[in-house]
Amino acid sequence: MNTKEAILKKLAENKGKFISGEFLRQELNISRTAVWKHMLKLREDGYPIEAISNRGYRLKGFQDIYDKSAIVSQLNTKTLGKKLFFLSEIDSTNNELKRLSAEGAEEGTTVVALKQLAGRGRRGRSWCSEDGKGIFMSVLLKPDIAPEEAQAITLAVSSAACKVIDSYTNVKPGIKWPNDILLQGKKVCGILTELSAEPDMINSIILGIGINVYGKKEDFPEDLREIATSLSEHTEIELSRSKIVANILKEIENLYLDFLEKGSTARFLNIWRCYSVTLGRDIIIHQGENVWQAKALDVLSNGRLLVETASSKRQAISSGEISIREVRENNI
Ligand code: BTN
Repeated sequence: MNTKEAILKKLAENKGKFISGEFLRQELNISRTAVWKHMLKLREDGYPIEAISNRGYRLKGFQDIYDKSAIVSQLNTKTLGKKLFFLSEIDSTNNELKRLSAEGAEEGTTVVALKQLAGRGRRGRSWCSEDGKGIFMSVLLKPDIAPEEAQAITLAVSSAACKVIDSYTNVKPGIKWPNDILLQGKKVCGILTELSAEPDMINSIILGIGINVYGKKEDFPEDLREIATSLSEHTEIELSRSKIVANILKEIENLYLDFLEKGSTARFLNIWRCYSVTLGRDIIIHQGENVWQAKALDVLSNGRLLVETASSKRQAISSGEISIREVRENNI
C-alpha cells in the first residue's frame, strides 16, 4: 500500500471524525507537508476531504470514488488483488488478464476496468460494459488441482459475489446454476470463467465478474430490459464499487483458501445451496440444439447439477444454460 492509499485507509477508518496531521505524520512516517500535499491530491481526485486547522482532516459526505487507491485502501486479502491493475478502458478484463498470465502474472493478479469495449459473456454473448455503470473485474487463480475440479471453483465465485451483493440489497439475491446472480428474477451479476489446462494440470483459471451497479432500465439494450437489473434498483445503502470489489476479493479468497486447505467444496456449496433458485425447481436445459426438461435435485461436489428427467433418469450436467419453468396457476 502506498502513502496515498494508507492515508485513505486512515480517513476511511475514522469516517466522519477528524484525524490530525500530526497523527498521520507519525503513523505513516512522513512530513506534515507531505500529508498536506497528499490531501490536496486526494481532493483533486474527488475525495470530499475537509481540513480545519487545529482539528485535522476528515472524509465528509459520501462519494462512490472508484479507483485503484480506493480499492487498495479497503483490501484485506493475503493474495487476491495484491497485484491490481485498474484501467480506464480495455477490450475485456478477461482478455487483459489472459495476456498478463501469458507473461507470467502471479496468482491473485486482478484487473478492474471502468469500461470494456468488448466485454464478453457466457456462450459467446457480449456483456454490457458501459463506463461508470458497473463493475468489470477478473481475477487469476493458479491452483494445483485436477482440471475436473475447476468447475466447482466457479461456484465459489458466485457464492462469494452473492454474499457481498446480499449485504447491500433489500431483497435476497438468488443464484441460477451455474453462476447467474438474480435480484427478483432479473440478472444483476454474471461470471465468465476461463480455464487453461493440460490433461492433468491447470495452468490458470480466469474468473471474470460483471455486476450491473447503476444501470437503469433504459441503460440496458432493449432485449435485456426485462431480464437485467442493477444493484442500485434494490438497495437503500450507498454503493461503493471499490468496497464491493475489495469485499468480493476477500470472500473469494476465504472460500478458495478453505477449499485448498481442506480439499472440500462443502463450505461454498452450502452457501451456494442457500442462495440457489434452481434446486427443487422444474427446469429447461438448453445444450446447443438439444432442449429438454428435468427437475433440479442438487449440486454435486464437482459443481455439476444433478437433475432427474421425466422418466426418472438421474443425470449430472456440466454445461449448458438452464431456464426455470414458471409455475402458472390455472394453466390450461
Ligand atoms: C455471463 O454471461 O453471465 C458472464 C458475464 C461476465 C462478464 C464479466 S465483466 C468482467 C469480465 N470480462 C469480460 O469480458 N467478461 C467478464
